[in-house]
Amino acid sequence: MDVHFQNASGGEWRADCSLVFAFEKDPPASFAPSLWERCAWLEISPALRDFTGKKDEVVALYGHPGLALSRVMLIGLGKRESFSLAVFRTAIANAARQCRLRGFAVISLPVEALDALLPVPGTFTVTREILIREAVAASLLALHRCDVYRSAKEEDDEPADPRSLSLMFTEEHTPEAARLSARQGEAEASGVILARDLSNGPANHITPAVLAEEAQKLSKAHGFTCTILDGEDIQCLGMGTLWAVARGSRQDPRFIVLEHCPAGREKDDPIVVVGKGITFDTGGISLKPAAKMHEMKGDMGGGAAILGFFAAIGAMHGADDLPRIVGLVPTAENMPGGNATRPGDVVTTLSGKTVEILNTDAEGRLILCDALTYAQQNWNPSILVDLATLTGACVIALGDYGTGLFTGDSELRRAILDAADRSGDLVWPLPLWDDYDSNLKSDVADMTNMGPREGGAINAALFLRRFIEKGTRWAHLDIAGPGYVVKSSPLLPIPGGTGAGVRLLCRLLDEVAVSEE
Ligand code: BES
Ligand code: MN
Ligand code: ZN
Repeated sequence: MDVHFQNASGGEWRADCSLVFAFEKDPPASFAPSLWERCAWLEISPALRDFTGKKDEVVALYGHPGLALSRVMLIGLGKRESFSLAVFRTAIANAARQCRLRGFAVISLPVEALDALLPVPGTFTVTREILIREAVAASLLALHRCDVYRSAKEEDDEPADPRSLSLMFTEEHTPEAARLSARQGEAEASGVILARDLSNGPANHITPAVLAEEAQKLSKAHGFTCTILDGEDIQCLGMGTLWAVARGSRQDPRFIVLEHCPAGREKDDPIVVVGKGITFDTGGISLKPAAKMHEMKGDMGGGAAILGFFAAIGAMHGADDLPRIVGLVPTAENMPGGNATRPGDVVTTLSGKTVEILNTDAEGRLILCDALTYAQQNWNPSILVDLATLTGACVIALGDYGTGLFTGDSELRRAILDAADRSGDLVWPLPLWDDYDSNLKSDVADMTNMGPREGGAINAALFLRRFIEKGTRWAHLDIAGPGYVVKSSPLLPIPGGTGAGVRLLCRLLDEVAVSEE
């Protein structure tokens, strides 16, 4: 689905269906006066009489088929006081889906109907531009489907996607800011969709080598720098724990380095983002139980989010305004086998610190620690943020949709929580208590990779913290819950990989860009 613009200078507004949102109690006409002016038939439309504006209410109104605007879909948003961006995204997603079910080719969104929704109650100021960005992103995400693994492509039970979403302006010309927000919504949706497809991709298709190829494709398409290290490079460099995880698999690991560096920013300290890229987590010799093991194809959700984030940056016009950004994805498959790491093995990390691997299923921290060291050896990160489907314990603590946030930097914590507020992610801070660090004590090496079950998400974060040098502004996001969910929803039509983290990083970029000015 393309995103188009229609404005007053373009002549008559034309669409198969116009979407109009309305709160309870307010007359729908007040949300889109120019549309009502153009569609005299609306006033006498019988179905209008029963529209109440209750949340999730959808009413279709029909004019004479010969008219340029002959259909309006009225969508209830409930009470104005309880309106939020989340309510808006869901309403848009449901409407987009309705339009596809009915086979509409051109959906239109009168922007005046978005203006009428402001101000949005909440902790930050929502603008028309934000509503445009969110509307575009939500409609694209709601329509996402993936049939690459089916033999019969045409067997889908829903018609083809609408050809375009047309934003209709009462202004003479389309305002530049609106154009930009629409592009941003498209760019971010494409990033989320890439991350979803990679996370949902089966582990026999989405291997470390394939993730590396994806990174290379992105670098070619958008002019990023891309360096790929293979298994041999990883061993030669001394990334001992990444190799310890990878060695049991027939799939050779990769270490992906992507860099976006606008001209003139080569000397800047970059923002470095790191994502866990375990393409399948069997647990290794510490084998996981069979039930639900297939979900571990999504154990590269953090890495997929990094690639999705770069896809979003690349697709955005004006990416030159962005800071220098480096993305790192250590990627491997965690398998048992004759060459696999055994519980009790002692391995040297890239940092020189040694780890006694007591549980081969605590592999995420083993590949991340080498990536965090690599980040600090090669750059002086302005901020260093990692995303990982790291611990089942985090899911127990925060539920299926909660992201655990670990950082000792209060400013970075604030920025991430604000970004989450804006992206709609449920992020909650968890502690990095020094007292628990002794959980990682080993009898034979500098540390073990496994603490007690209790406080498991904290123990994992404390393991990572051991690789953070003094002065590095670091945050760790445990997305074990929200990275992969088994229930579909309006914004997630295919259950499974969610692309969690992509839009959070986009909003974090907004936050840090503002604070740098
Ligand atoms: N990938 C898992 C964590 C996970 C669990 C993600 C459920 C998503 C859903 C991770 O590698 C793992 O196995 N962690 C262990 C650590 C333990 C052995 C210390 C866990 O959480 O049980
Ligand atoms: Mn594991
Ligand atoms: Zn894992």
